[in-house]
Amino acid sequence: MIETRLRFSRRALLAGVALGFLTSALPALAAKKKKAAAPAKAEEPTFTGTALPVPRLVDLADGETFDLVAEATRHAFVEGKPVDALGYGGTYMGPALRLKRGTRPKIRLVNRLARPTNIHWHGLLVPSSQDAATHPGLKTGESFETALTVDQPAATLWYHTHVHGRTARDVHDGLAGLMIVTDEASAGLGLPSTWGVDDLPLVLQDRDLDPTGRPVYPATAVVIEHGFRGRDMVVNGVTNAVARVPHRLVRLRLVNAANARTFRLFFEDNRNFRLIATDAGFLAEPAELSLLVLTPGERAEILVDFAEGIGVLMTGPDEHDHRVGAATTTIPDVIDRPARLVAFDVVRDDRPSAAVPSRLALPLAAVGSTAGLKRRRFELRTLPNPAAAAVGTGGHDHHMMHTATTPAAAAQGPATHDTESAPLPILPTINGRTFAIGRIDEAVGLGATEIWEIVSPDMAHPFHLHGAHFRVLSEDGDQPKTWNRGPKDTVLVENSAELLITFTRPADAATPFLHHCHLLEHEDGGMMGTFTVR
Ligand code: C2O
Ligand code: CU
Ligand code: CU
Repeated sequence: MIETRLRFSRRALLAGVALGFLTSALPALAAKKKKAAAPAKAEEPTFTGTALPVPRLVDLADGETFDLVAEATRHAFVEGKPVDALGYGGTYMGPALRLKRGTRPKIRLVNRLARPTNIHWHGLLVPSSQDAATHPGLKTGESFETALTVDQPAATLWYHTHVHGRTARDVHDGLAGLMIVTDEASAGLGLPSTWGVDDLPLVLQDRDLDPTGRPVYPATAVVIEHGFRGRDMVVNGVTNAVARVPHRLVRLRLVNAANARTFRLFFEDNRNFRLIATDAGFLAEPAELSLLVLTPGERAEILVDFAEGIGVLMTGPDEHDHRVGAATTTIPDVIDRPARLVAFDVVRDDRPSAAVPSRLALPLAAVGSTAGLKRRRFELRTLPNPAAAAVGTGGHDHHMMHTATTPAAAAQGPATHDTESAPLPILPTINGRTFAIGRIDEAVGLGATEIWEIVSPDMAHPFHLHGAHFRVLSEDGDQPKTWNRGPKDTVLVENSAELLITFTRPADAATPFLHHCHLLEHEDGGMMGTFTVR
């Protein structure tokens, strides 16, 4: 391990792996490198910006305890403008925790925040007792220790705080990080795998940064109803990110850690790339795409060939339709044109490129007859809140709500405002009910395979469930979109989707699993339910 580190350290620096504080060292190193290698045009830095930070990778050993400390820190979203933020272990967001299939590492979450916190391992298949998502929140100074039974295929996962009613604000403030599961089957695929060099995580978020560089989170009616979308694109915690990548095949691990923004990802030059993995693991074979849609909570791994030269990863505006009865209103995004997420400068080296494997994993088993399977139906709706209407803050007038999102109005609003403290203009519901702690909504048999039909009559919702993975059988009665054909735990349901789910991990009534909309403002507002597995 140490050997590998030393061997790659210089190249790692060139790729900007060693976090923002090394930015100033980059031009010098780049110049040295240029003299050593044959002069190549592609080595001239093409883009100006902030060197893409790469989260610290921590390998969790079997049986050893790792302290994940939730604490306040300082962080610069905009280079040179540090502001107060939250994170784990002293960084905005946390370290990337790498777990090996077949091990049982221990993690102790320690709360050094001035607010309650808990933690959810999003995408990790563990019994609910090993996950603290339903914990009401550790008090300051308390800790939660768990041993994680890692037994699932290699995948890019993440962890984040999950205190009911506060998740949107807490994740916005920085309480999220990456988790990587590795296994032997995928280690043999020959995929690019040098962390921070040709295996790059990209945690995608959006923020509204004020002139001092501080992210502003206005809990206005429109934000609660449609979710928070910011004007500034933030990748691994920084705006205007520039990554330096080698002149060959690079693996990008994309994570949508935004509150509500669905990223519509493409390269500025429209190049094709290969989708190799979705939320919960590899596809059977790579799928060639030029556009990838990633909804909050989702992950995807892609292979991009930088032998084709420099590239810029972009996202298109995320406007969405909102249907009330027969009327459809298109809710515009706060950005009206594609925005840049990361620019990639290319560094030449003499290493051979990895090849794109033709097979990645065993194909998902053919779906036999689903006729005998238990079906459940979940209707996700935002309903007008009678309580809010009574005090005159609610209603469904989209135009009026939109006037409240002007920067002037947002600036007047309190900077901190818990989503639970005022009547919501709408009630985010599942099957007509908002979330209630202590109520069990569904009881599933351990080992059962079921079909869950999710319907979104009013707007698209990213549906997620804890403790199980699924495959998408159909979307609106048709074949699922290419990016929804792999192993999943979160899916954007635009109208309806049928999910085939096998429940392999237990959850009792004291710590049930949760299913919810991963648009965090909807989750906080109550578009969430509970289920037991036993
Ligand atoms: Cu990432 Cu309950 O969610
Ligand atoms: Cu989850
Ligand atoms: Cu939703």
